[in-house]
This record gives sequence, structure tokens and C-alpha cells, in this order.
Amino acid sequence: MEIKNKKSIKAFNTPGLKGKITIPGDKSISHRALILGSMCVGKTIIKGLLESEDIFSTINALIKFGVDIERKENGDFVVHGVGVGGHLQPDEPVYLGNSGTSARLLIGLVSSCDITVDFLGDESLSSRPMNRIIDPIIRIGAEVIKGDKNKLPFTVKGSSSPLPIKYEMKIPSAQIKSAIMISALNIRGETTIIEPVLTRDHTENLLNIFGANISITKNKLGHKSISIRGHKELKPTNIVVPGDPSSAAFIIVAALIVPGSSVVIKNVMINKTRSIFIDFLIEMGADIIFLSEYQNSGEKVVDLKVNYSQLYGIDIPSTAAPAMIDEYLIISIAAAYAKGKTLLKGLGELRVKESDRFSAIKNILQLAGVRFESFDDDIVIYGNSGSVKGGCLIDTNLDHRVAMASIVMGLGAEEPIEIDDGSSINTSFSEFFGIMKTLGGNIKNNEK
Ligand code: S3P
Repeated sequence: MEIKNKKSIKAFNTPGLKGKITIPGDKSISHRALILGSMCVGKTIIKGLLESEDIFSTINALIKFGVDIERKENGDFVVHGVGVGGHLQPDEPVYLGNSGTSARLLIGLVSSCDITVDFLGDESLSSRPMNRIIDPIIRIGAEVIKGDKNKLPFTVKGSSSPLPIKYEMKIPSAQIKSAIMISALNIRGETTIIEPVLTRDHTENLLNIFGANISITKNKLGHKSISIRGHKELKPTNIVVPGDPSSAAFIIVAALIVPGSSVVIKNVMINKTRSIFIDFLIEMGADIIFLSEYQNSGEKVVDLKVNYSQLYGIDIPSTAAPAMIDEYLIISIAAAYAKGKTLLKGLGELRVKESDRFSAIKNILQLAGVRFESFDDDIVIYGNSGSVKGGCLIDTNLDHRVAMASIVMGLGAEEPIEIDDGSSINTSFSEFFGIMKTLGGNIKNNEK
């Protein structure tokens, strides 16, 4: 039976996941490769671009800004860039669906162009905080001329004479950092961003590949300082997008918690600002073997073998949060199947993701019969040595990662776990159900 990522879906206890799969392209790098490719003059070829709804939101927006993007028969995407500052005034609103990264990065792009854009999103995106991106772009000289600057929908008028700023990051956010960096490419003079807490560094890596005028140093306090001199022409290039570790995390944890599993997972990007969840899983007792290692577009990529393992509870400090912000849901599922207590600290930012993931973790654990406690931004999960009751229906609130984490939990639970709607998974990982099916996951569309 074909699993369509639509309507309610149920995951049943599965005897063991087996097989070899390949993880599709990284979402963060896919957005950035498209946007930076659009800022070159000439053709950028992107191999392994993630084909998901969030990425199509970025593609559709760039097309509205006058960028020509084609998909070749072999799956390569070709971006015919318009050059730095060459993006045109769209003649209709730009709808970004569920995609926070599209919103923040494209607001950055528009902020230093002489164009005015109406930005819209779905219900989830329209409830997410936007003041964190509006504050820096106002300093650059952009304006919000219609709407509430804290939330979409609103209209951004880019500046015709944008100013270089020195910006110290208040919250660790790669989206905000990247938005300012993208804006800086079209600003005369030097823009500097100080990052006291490190976040994913894909924009920095790609800007080096695209030949931007970027330098990365440390300030007196030892904090990362990124300086960009704008108005340098970017050189079109070929990008190979490595596989998304945040998608791989769901398959890795599924293999770890379902007894009898042994799965080879190919094409997993290893980057210290993204993949420390693998180190924590190994600390929990996970049997994860690194089979081979290669490089794609400046990022390290590995193939992994993951075997079912009895996991043990550990403490994960708040300093880990920026580098595994997208993995807490699935780490909570691993903790629920572990033996003993797992402490997750500093989860405040989870409240402003595609849904309130802090509440989502507690909701899933409670409904599935897992004991936990929460204080302020911290959660303690009391694992019951591989035994989770399940037998519940989870409301996913349009959040792809809530949907996937719940399904993974159901594969090891005594009673099935159902989600209200699996369609949100298409925003980041459309192949999720296909991959699970290949591995023998017992997942069904719930015909009522
Ligand atoms: C992303 C950064 C993170 C992450 C999101 C993707 C990016 O968001 O949660 O899924 O591509 O820059 P924040 O910048 O809000 O932390």
C-alpha cells in the first residue's frame, strides 16, 4: 500500500528495520544555494537539491524576483542568476507556506534591494516571530510599510541606499545571521556580525565557494566575527548538496529503538554546528558505525550503519541547543526508549519553531505514557528501558518534525501511535514514508 503524506497515519510496532537508504539534500544548504546562485551573473548548477515544499517556496519566490530556475531531467537544478542587486520588483505577493528559513533569508535579500515585497505565510509561519529579522533590516535602512512588523503578513520596502551595520546576535539564529549576510552582499562597505554563540555555518561556507569578500575572525572576547564587503560579483559555481542530518536523525533513532534493526544510512552531512546529536546518541550507547567519509561542496559527508541499541539516559547541556535545535523532538523519543533519566536543558527556542515544540515534546510523552518533568526551559525524561505504551493520537499542529517523531515513536511502541495529518512532512522530507517502507516500517494510512 502506498503511503500518501496526507490525512491521519498510524505507526505500528515493527519487528526490525533493515536495509540501505540515502538521505536527500540538506534543507538549509538547498535554500542558501538557490539564493546565492540567484545573486551570481550566470549559471549555478545544483546537484542533490532537496525537493520539498519549503524549498519550492524559495524557488517560487526567486522566480517572482525575476530569476530563471530550471530542473533538468537528471534532477539537477540550474539557477540563472541576476547578479547582486539584480532582483526585480515582484508583481504579486510572495507566499512562503510553512518555511521560516525562506521568510528570514528572503527578507534579508530584499532589505538591501530597491524593491517592495508583500510577504505571506501559512497559519504556522504567520504566528512565528519576525521582529528578530526586522530589527537588523531596519538598521540597514529597510522599512515595514504595511502590517505588524512582528508577524507575517507584512510588506517590506528594501533600501535604495542600504547601510553597512555592525550587528551583535542577540539570539543564536542561523536564519537571522544568514539574512544579514545575504543583505550585506548588496551593501557598499563592510557589514560585521558578531556571533557570541555559534550557529550553523553553511552560509559562510557557501559564500567562500561563491567567491564573496568574507572574512571570519574572533573579536577580543573570543566571539566569532564575520565581515562582508558587499558589491563584489559572485561567481557562478556547481554545488552538490550533502544529505540533511536533521532528516537522517529520524531514521537513525528509528533504527536505534526498534529491536532487531540494522540500517545503512548514506549521505549524512557531518558538521559540528549540525550533527552533535550523533555524538550524544553515541554517549547514550548507540551503535553507530562510520562506514565511509567524503566531501561535498565544502561539507563532510558520511555513510553510517546504525544497529538497534539499548540506550541510556544522559544530560545534554543548554550549550548544545543551537547545534541540535531541530533534533530535540527526536532525541526525546530516544530518551523515552532509554534506560534511566535524560536531562535536556535550554529548550526555550523550541517554543517558536513550526509549532511550540517544547509543548509538543511534553504532549507526545504524556499521551504515549512516558514519565517526564519540566522546569522553565528544561525537560527530564524518565526512560523505561525500551518499553513505551503508545496507543494515542497526536495533533501535529502543521509541524513536520512533530509528525515524524511521533511516527518513529510508534514503530517501537506496544500500541500504535496515530498522527492527525502527515502532510506537513512534505515541507522537509517527502521521502520519509517511502524510506520507512523500504526499511520495513509498519506504517499505514488510517482509512476510517
Ligand atoms: C535554519 C536555522 C534554524 C533551524 C531551521 C533552519 C537555517 O532556525 O531551526 O530549521 O536554515 O538557518 P533558527 O535560525 O531560528 O535557529
